[in-house]
Amino acid sequence: MRGLDHKISVVAGAAPGNIGAATALRLASEGATVVAADLDLAAAEAVAEEIRAAGGRAVAGQVDIGDEGSFAKLLNKAARDLGGVDHLFNVAADLSADTIGVDSTNDITTLPLAAWQRTIDVTLTGYMYGIRHALPLMRARGGGSIVNTMSAAVWMAEPIRAAYSAAKAGVAALTRHTARIAGREGVRCNAVAPGTVLTASLLRTLPEAEQARQLAEIASPRLGRPEDVAAAVAFLFSDDGGWVNGQVISVDGGLTMRG
Ligand SMILES: NC(=O)c1ccc[n+]([C@@H]2O[C@H](COP(=O)([O-])OP(=O)(O)OC[C@H]3O[C@@H](n4cnc5c(N)ncnc54)[C@H](O)[C@@H]3O)[C@@H](O)[C@H]2O)c1
Repeated sequence: MRGLDHKISVVAGAAPGNIGAATALRLASEGATVVAADLDLAAAEAVAEEIRAAGGRAVAGQVDIGDEGSFAKLLNKAARDLGGVDHLFNVAADLSADTIGVDSTNDITTLPLAAWQRTIDVTLTGYMYGIRHALPLMRARGGGSIVNTMSAAVWMAEPIRAAYSAAKAGVAALTRHTARIAGREGVRCNAVAPGTVLTASLLRTLPEAEQARQLAEIASPRLGRPEDVAAAVAFLFSDDGGWVNGQVISVDGGLTMRG
């Protein structure tokens, strides 16, 4: 893809086998220098090491995206050490048992407030922190590109995961707002909305019968791979995506298509 060579890309939420890692690997293979960051530093380091072993350029960073100071520090350090920030991929989400596990077994009449709040704090407010602190760095560079991660859950009217789908729906509004305020300065902001993507952790935890049920619902012969989302993000960061702004791109095998 055009225009990714020697760009500096921050991927916030990269651990082996996940969507962030596949995107970090893809961007590095296109010539970008990648900051692979995660709450779990050892996991981020493993991603950076995989990139370097493949001949790419990458460093690891630790970040808690739900903590404004932590996210600001990651981005400012990347700018200082590497010369600037061109891309931010907001991809982390709190998918822990205490958060999405609880959200997935309740509706809003029974959902404990702590699970709601944690989801909003990380999966929505965390993205706002990233955008807020990436924008000045991108403006200083004369442009940039941000991609946020939503979910097909936003449109599925699920009887569970109210916090998750509400947070992800909020990300759509944040995406369009950012595109509106920064587009004329050359900073684009888009979102990807994946359907079921078989990450290393989902391959371990999603029962085969459930995989088959979900496959039967989509207009594709297979469920998603992390690389499917990585390709869409690489396009949105690239010059080939240079006139795409404020959009949500569904990468879901046709799950949410409408006539
Ligand atoms: N896999 C899917 O089927 C699917 C479908 C739709 C949307 N998504 C979205 O795609 C994104 C990536 O999903 P995934 O399946 O690769 O998830 P994952 O759980 O494998 O990866 C998410 C990463 O975020 C990190 N993280 C969690 N809390 C954090 C915090 N506070 N600060 C920094 N990092 C933190 C985790 O350590 C983990 O490495 C998420 O936003 C998710 O909601 C995934």
